[in-house]
Amino acid sequence: MASTSDGPITATLFPGDGIGPEISDAVQEIFRAAQAPIEWDVQYIGKEVDPRTNSFVTRENLDSVLKNRIGLKGPMTTPIGKGFRSLNLTLRKELQLYANVRPCKSIPGYKTRYDDIDLVTIRENTEGEYSGLEHEVVPGVVESLKVITHVASTRVAEFAFDFAQKNNRKKVTAVHKANIMKLTDGAFLRCVRKVAERYPDIQYEEMIVDNTCMQLVTRPKQFDVMCMPNLYGDIISDLCAGLIGGLGLTPSGNIGANGLALMEAVHGTAPDIAGKDMANPTAMLLSGVMMLRHLRVTDVADNIEQAVLSTIAGGKYLTRDLGGKTGTQEFTQAIIGNLK
Ligand code: NAI
Repeated sequence: MASTSDGPITATLFPGDGIGPEISDAVQEIFRAAQAPIEWDVQYIGKEVDPRTNSFVTRENLDSVLKNRIGLKGPMTTPIGKGFRSLNLTLRKELQLYANVRPCKSIPGYKTRYDDIDLVTIRENTEGEYSGLEHEVVPGVVESLKVITHVASTRVAEFAFDFAQKNNRKKVTAVHKANIMKLTDGAFLRCVRKVAERYPDIQYEEMIVDNTCMQLVTRPKQFDVMCMPNLYGDIISDLCAGLIGGLGLTPSGNIGANGLALMEAVHGTAPDIAGKDMANPTAMLLSGVMMLRHLRVTDVADNIEQAVLSTIAGGKYLTRDLGGKTGTQEFTQAIIGNLK
């Protein structure tokens, strides 16, 4: 990975679709103002299916991330049709982005049902129910195969405990349904347990997914780092985003082998507000902050994070989704005004 002492770090940027270009512009402007040592390698998804990837994601798109090993992605519209893979699935599979990390931390000054939430969901990103193995057995009967492997379960568990240790977290909760899915979720749990033994300083607990949902909406502060298979992670991570105020505020990171990482806002392309200067760039910006932390450019990450949090806490400049009337561009300038 390139370092700041070698000059600027090149990072891939996918502006994406819908509000993607507007919030990407905001991120670039704020990064420039904060003097973040990042040079963007801007990549656009292809207009036609690339036969080399069987997707609108081109080989050049993938090569850019593989070369730079770091990237930031805006939301993308997956074109509807048969015979090619979803954009997000292509990126995850081809780049082997095996862990999805979503920190959900209360935003001071933005009132939600609970204050002081600070938890992180870590989702296995490559298999489980999302293995893409569905078929019709006979007319009227279909099957979807849930695949759990020791390799993928162990590597996501290792990531979760390593993340907990590096970020001074106290506890990892494995979320499962092994009481019913004894073989698949049972295998997942056994792998996480084995990894947990290597981290005696981190408390380890297991919780069944349905109870986890109930506990999250009634006593969310009991959670710290949560590690789970793909489908549970997809659902629980959105539930957790809801706890802190919604998708417009939640960053995420997709992590692959040897430090490769592609950060992304978790919301979609918001076609209803695209091009209207109404989008909230916070989730994309905080994903950029995660990217800077991943690159260990901590001082700039801290500066940008405090600027966006104090802008929201100030209450004067809030985008519509946060209950205000400020446009994307004015909100961006307010954040720049709060940089130190
Ligand atoms: P959406 O997240 O785009 O929109 C849901 C609601 O939240 C809308 O009312 C929208 O205006 C609002 N919203 C979302 N992000 C916002 C932001 N940053 N600021 C202010 N308001 C915001 O979800 P939807 O409508 O289900 O999906 C629209 C498109 O996005 C679809 O084509 C879908 O495939 C795609 N999508 C892409 C994702 C990705 O690339 N990671 C993730 C989710 C959806």
